[in-house]
Parts: sequence; structure tokens; C-alpha cells
Amino acid sequence: MNYSIAIDGPSGAGKSTLAKAIAARLGFYYVDTGAIYRTVGLYVARQGGNCAVPADVEPLLPAIQIGMEYGEDGLQHMILNGEDVTAAIRENAVSQYASQVSAIPAVREFLLEMQRGLAKRHSVIMDGRDIGTVVLPDADIKVYLTASVEERALRRWKELQAKGDGTPLETVKEQIIQRDYADSHREIAPLRQAEDAVVLDTSELDLEESIEALYNIVKERIDL
Ligand code: DC
Repeated sequence: MNYSIAIDGPSGAGKSTLAKAIAARLGFYYVDTGAIYRTVGLYVARQGGNCAVPADVEPLLPAIQIGMEYGEDGLQHMILNGEDVTAAIRENAVSQYASQVSAIPAVREFLLEMQRGLAKRHSVIMDGRDIGTVVLPDADIKVYLTASVEERALRRWKELQAKGDGTPLETVKEQIIQRDYADSHREIAPLRQAEDAVVLDTSELDLEESIEALYNIVKERIDL
């Protein structure tokens, strides 16, 4: 029997870090769906397309082969037409491309079966924006993970600093506010809390506390 855990929430709430930690504890597959949208955005941008324009993006979809491999490093490696783009999709500009392509219905349709297929074959903890609402509406557990804008901006800024990206904190915060707005106001599969989701706000929690809080939510709901 396969279990599925859906984690949704805004950018920078810590979804991937927490989901990865819980997946490792439970022996589940961790599926970072944002990485899949990032891979599509990267491809379109590399082809010179405008990620916000459906007529630019749609014709390119059939040429995109996306692979996911789980390395010994525990990372979900994204393979775009044979090339490992795991690092490239984390560049700051790609966040914007991903948000733009993700508002295009044909892109969401293109990726839906891939995401559902993974959950059919494995026990998964999957994170994104619409996992509990659209991709896996029957997930065993749904969590809406969030934190204040200030806290999320600070976390993202620290991550960028560690990679040598000097984007100022105020800019990072502005980008997060814009992305929150775009992700939650688009017509198709907007970011929203599923009615049956448990809300976990990590603004006041450090990493270890957040992991424990999420683990407790899971433990109370499925028989491990
Ligand atoms: O989680 P992330 O920041 O890597 O996601 C990048 C973008 O992809 C985000 O701005 C919205 C989009 N996305 C989405 O629309 N649906 C998902 N399930 C995951 C991500």
C-alpha cells in the first residue's frame, strides 16, 4: 500500500527542506514539484521564449523530456533532455520563469500525469502549490506549510548569500510578495489551502522544531 503526503504553501516556507527530512525518516520518495516547473521554465528561457506567453511556451512542450533521479546525495536530480540541471534551476531568475510557466494551463496538464504517476508507484511526500487541491486530492495527509513574509524572505536571502548571490534582502522580499500574489491569484490551480489540510506555521520554529512538528502531524495520522 502506498501512502501520499501533500505539502503545499508559499515560496520559502521551508516545504522542500522539511519534506526531504520527513521522506528520509519514513523511507518515502520526496517529490519536489516546483523543481519540475523550474525545469520547464529553464528550457523555455534557454530557447529564447517568453515564459509568460503561452504561444511561446506551448509549442516547446513536446520537446521537453524531464527525468528525475534520486542520487546517493539524497537529492532529487532534475534531468532535462539528458542534462543534469539540478543546480541551474536554483538560480534566482528561474524562480520567476517557473512561476510564469506554471500559470499556463497546458503546462499544468503536461505535468499532471507525471506527478500522479509517481504517487501511484511509490509512497510519496510531494510538495508544491496545488498538491492537496488538484494533483493528489485523495492524499492521506495534507499539510499547508506557511511562515510570515519577513521570515521567508530572510531564509531565502540567507540561501542566496550562501551561494554568492548578493541580491539585497528588500529585493528578495519584494520578489516573494510578487510570487505569492501571482501563485495565489492565477486562474488555474492557484495556491490555496485545501479544506482538509492541517496548517503548520513555522515563523516561530527553527528547523529542528519544524521537522518535529511535521513529523508529529504525520505520525498522528498514519500508522507507521
Ligand atoms: O516551490 P518553488 O519555488 O520551487 O516553485 C517554483 C514555482 O513553480 C512557483 O512560483 C509556483 C510554481 N509551482 C506551481 O505552480 N505548482 C506546484 N505544484 C509547484 C510549483
